[in-house]
Amino acid sequence: MCMQDKSLQRSFMRKRNYGIILMAGVLLLFFVFGKSGNADEENVVTESVVKLFQPRYEGSVSVEEAIMERRSVRDFARAPLTMKEISQILWASGGATLDGITGPTRAYPSAGAIYPLEIYLIAGDVTGLEPGIYRYDWKSHSLVLHKEGDFRDILARAASNQRMIQEAPATIVVASSYKKVERRYGERGALRYVSMDAGHLGQNVHLQTQSIGLGTVMVGAFTDDKVAEIIDLKDEVPIYMMPVGKPETH
Ligand SMILES: Cc1cc2nc3c(=O)[nH]c(=O)nc-3n(C[C@H](O)[C@H](O)[C@H](O)COP(=O)(O)O)c2cc1C
Repeated sequence: MCMQDKSLQRSFMRKRNYGIILMAGVLLLFFVFGKSGNADEENVVTESVVKLFQPRYEGSVSVEEAIMERRSVRDFARAPLTMKEISQILWASGGATLDGITGPTRAYPSAGAIYPLEIYLIAGDVTGLEPGIYRYDWKSHSLVLHKEGDFRDILARAASNQRMIQEAPATIVVASSYKKVERRYGERGALRYVSMDAGHLGQNVHLQTQSIGLGTVMVGAFTDDKVAEIIDLKDEVPIYMMPVGKPETH
């Protein structure tokens, strides 16, 4: 072998060794960081946080038609809700909107923009969503898993056995922290503003369900302590429940 061949072979070997070292390094990095990155993602994205569908901002039913046709629905078909429907309803309940002046605001008005209400979804029969209690995170338009399991029966029992809560595929529960409102507005805020906020939110849900061929009913008759215990509420008091589903056609 001539000198030139030998130096070419050495250069080739050197490059191959660098290649092997580089590959080993990449593999090592993948095993050390890649795996734990996935594990985090599994915990956050697929296990406890469910990203909702982007809501539609246009519909085929006018506000006037929705107001005209809205009625309380207490008989629900035994049919699941889709994630698109749930996404739309939750956005309408208290999702982000843009007023162009103060930046992102929310779908309902709130005294002093305090927004003391928390929105929970008690899901029993929603395609693609494990039964459970979820908190709606309006900023990220996501559901955060709060408790696993189907709580519809026990929730209905806490509401004087109102059958529609047991039968609807999902129920929205609105709860409020009173402290935030009391700090700013005192007793008047607690007595009036919290319920007013909840009323606005509820009407949004009513009109949105109406406009996408679903139905709901406002439920105020329930035992606060029992509902708080089921949902595991700490500083919040349940205000309203709204079972949501496809109206039964008789
Ligand atoms: C604050 C409040 C609490 C309510 N609670 C219940 C309830 O616990 N159960 C129920 O079946 N309907 C309940 N409703 C629904 C009313 O009965 C209903 O809105 C009313 O009869 C008018 O009928 P409509 O909604 O079809 O126009 C409640 C409504 C409001 C505003």
